[in-house]
Amino acid sequence: MTPDGFDQFWADAQKPGRADKSEASRRRLDWWRDAKLGIFVHWNPSSVAAGEISWSKQFYGDTGEDHRDNPRPSAGPDIPEHRVWFDWFRPAVPREVYDNLPRSFFPGMFDADAFVATAKRAGAGYLVMVTKHHDGFCMWDTRFTDFNVMNTPFRRDIVAEMAAACERAGIRFGIYYSQRDWHHPDYGPERMAAYNEYMHNQVEELLLRHRNISVVFFDTEHYYPSKLWDGERLFRMIHRLRPEIVINDRCGVPADFGTPEQSIGAWDPGRDWESCMTFTGFWSWRGFQAPVIPFEECLLRLVRCAGGNGNLLMNVGPLPTGQVDPREADRLERLGAWLARNGESIFGTRGGPYPPGDYGVSTQRGDTVYLHVLRWPEGDVVLLPPGRRVASARVLSGGRAAVSATAAGLRVSVAPADRTEPDTIVVLELGG
Ligand code: GLC
Repeated sequence: MTPDGFDQFWADAQKPGRADKSEASRRRLDWWRDAKLGIFVHWNPSSVAAGEISWSKQFYGDTGEDHRDNPRPSAGPDIPEHRVWFDWFRPAVPREVYDNLPRSFFPGMFDADAFVATAKRAGAGYLVMVTKHHDGFCMWDTRFTDFNVMNTPFRRDIVAEMAAACERAGIRFGIYYSQRDWHHPDYGPERMAAYNEYMHNQVEELLLRHRNISVVFFDTEHYYPSKLWDGERLFRMIHRLRPEIVINDRCGVPADFGTPEQSIGAWDPGRDWESCMTFTGFWSWRGFQAPVIPFEECLLRLVRCAGGNGNLLMNVGPLPTGQVDPREADRLERLGAWLARNGESIFGTRGGPYPPGDYGVSTQRGDTVYLHVLRWPEGDVVLLPPGRRVASARVLSGGRAAVSATAAGLRVSVAPADRTEPDTIVVLELGG
């Protein structure tokens, strides 16, 4: 058994703590931790109806008023399927309509290079796209089911186009793949072995076709045990094809990183995590009436993730035309412009050394600390816990920062004229 052989890989996958994992497992995440920002893409024919991906499929009665029991199968006898979840189910799309959406799926303006260029300009180091969501529709030319993009009028393998575009653009490519499947006839407690065969085959097919897949984002809740998916065999296959892969924690084992959803992960130097968050509260495109968060909010998320020692996977929900929603593209454009000026305080950093607080967060690279002041406390002084000596201090955008060490800790202040909204970045060089 070599240190990064499968036994070690699988043993590491059971352990949440970084420190308990092998050197090889920690190393695999280096690029991912440095990247800090990824773009998530939730897109399939559901965009045609502007209904939430998978969840909108007739969960309510046709009027949308009366609530019905979830008619979908769950994976095991003791495993509850979700009944109610936020507004995702509303408005309901009648089953007959939802099932026919692939017939109207023709994203004629889709250009993978343009799409990926938007992600890259935003500063993202990777892109993770939905290949198959809970509704079972496959966005690639799979040989294991006809329920796929080649049987829409569009007839182009969107996963292949995205994978190739990411390769050309020099950003990493990842796949979201839902084990849960409300379309496949074998999905459900009776024929799980047959279903798992199908599911493993599909993941293998994707990995064999696209050598640049660097991340697998599975998706079911933690109470689905890995055994249900024949997880060890699944991970063995993945490891055989791609020993360098990074895998999330949604296949019944903690694996490489945690996945807080719609919230910023808690500061935790001992465990890697990635917050996945949406612009609208929905995963897929919900029409122009769904408000998009302002740029500032988007920036604060990224900064808080970096300061919490985590990543941000910012989700876009493309239009049925295949384009990024122009409002989301605008936020990403501005994020990229901000990162072009301030990226050294985010990319390649780790969270800390000061824990996040009311004032904001800190990030660090070697002896350089970036203090991100997002809110000036009353009295205009940020008080940090005592730590190493500060050799010099300045404001990243230009200007002076006053720093003094007291028994209570470090006092940091910046004259109002030298502050920048919504984030004033103070660069501290630590010494001694
Ligand atoms: C949830 C939802 C799913 C979404 C995912 C993104 O698990 O079921 O719709 O794709 O979160 O993280």
